[in-house]
Formats: sequence, C-alpha cells, structure tokens
Amino acid sequence: YNYHMTHFVMSAPDIRHLPTDTGIEVAFAGRSNAGKSSALNTLTNQKSLARTSKTPGRTQLINLFEVEPEIRLVDLPGYGYAEVPEEMKRKWQRALGEYLQKRHSLKGLVVLMDIRHPMKDLDQQMVQWAVGVDIPVLVLLTKSDKLASGACKAQLNQVREAAAAFEGDIQVEAFSSLKKTGVDKLRLKLDSWFSE
Ligand code: GTP
Ligand code: MG
Repeated sequence: YNYHMTHFVMSAPDIRHLPTDTGIEVAFAGRSNAGKSSALNTLTNQKSLARTSKTPGRTQLINLFEVEPEIRLVDLPGYGYAEVPEEMKRKWQRALGEYLQKRHSLKGLVVLMDIRHPMKDLDQQMVQWAVGVDIPVLVLLTKSDKLASGACKAQLNQVREAAAAFEGDIQVEAFSSLKKTGVDKLRLKLDSWFSE
C-alpha cells in the first residue's frame, strides 16, 4: 500500500459517529503522549497529517484517515491522561473496549508505549481486549531514540516476555519517529493486515 497517499477523512466525537463498519480498519492506541500521531505522520511521510503536541491529551477526537477507499487508519485519543476527570476516563475506557470488541472492520491494533514506561495497566487492558476478540496486535515501543541501544534491547526483551503471557498474536518492536526506526516493520505489518 502507498501510505504516502493517506488523507484525512473525518473526526468522530465517539464510536457511535464512526463511518459505516465496512472495509478494513487498523487503529493506533496508546497512553496520551505515547507518540501515536507522530507515528502516523512518520508512516505516511506527512508532517502534519495527524496533529501532534507536547501537551498530552491533544487528540480528543477519533481521527480517521484513508489510505485508499475502504482501507483506513484510525488515530485514537490517548488514555491515562492524569488531568482528565475520573468520570471521563472511565467513559473513554468503556468506549475503547466497545470499539475494540464490536468494530467488525477492525483487523489490527497498533499499541504504542513509550519505551521508557511500557505496559502500564491500561496498555495491558488494550492488549487483553484485542487478544480476546482475536485481533492481532503490534506493540511499538516509541521514542527509542531516547535510550541507548543496550537499554532499548533490555526493554524490548522485557516487553516481549510480558506480551508472550497473553498468548495472542502480538509482535513487539522498537520505534522512533525521530530516527525512523521500526517504520519498515510497521509498514509490513499493516500491509499484511490490509491484504487479508
Ligand atoms: P495524544 O494525541 O495526546 O494522545 O498524544 P500522541 O500519542 O498522539 O503523541 P504525539 O505524537 O502528539 O507525541 C507526543 C510528544 O512526543 C510530541 O512532543 C512529540 O514530538 C514527541 N515524540 C513523538 N514521537 C517521538 C519520537 O520518536 N522521539 C522523540 N524523541 N519524541 C517523540
Ligand atoms: Mg495524538
């Protein structure tokens, strides 16, 4: 697929306002500030396709992008942002679960985690939900440029071990939008999900 051709389709305030559930969709999920929007921009080689920000919680809408007709990438709002009221957090967590469990066109989930703080409770919840409905997962350990290569490998091994315990289809890779690390692996994975 030619990810460079990806374009913005629409924003949805919640899962009830998503477009019809046809075609193939792959979602990008992760804690706020994990680097979801940056990864989408790196993948598509577009500086500002998805809005990025130093302020966590920037993406509060579900943003949909189309690689080509019926082939979509979804930038989900980040979870776990401390400043968000408890009630809103719970609501959003519920909505995420519903989306993962009921969206038929969802054929793959990319879960992004800062390589310095991976696999928090909510990350595990996301992986658990996906595995529970047989959706394959690609875990990207983002901002790998922030750690020395030895420390990166140690984190990678640790998360791979944790991922194995889920007994699902989970691949774990290091990623950096800054250095373009792991972009080829992301592209290959998306190609395989979109071609099924
Ligand atoms: P929300 O939409 O708020 O949930 O955040 P997000 O997950 O979309 O994160 P975003 O892509 O906006 O990036 C958050 C911050 O991390 C920004 O300041 C980015 O510049 C920075 N960042 C993202 N990816 C990388 C990376 O690979 N390396 C480094 N060093 N910084 C990164
Ligand atoms: Mg974002």
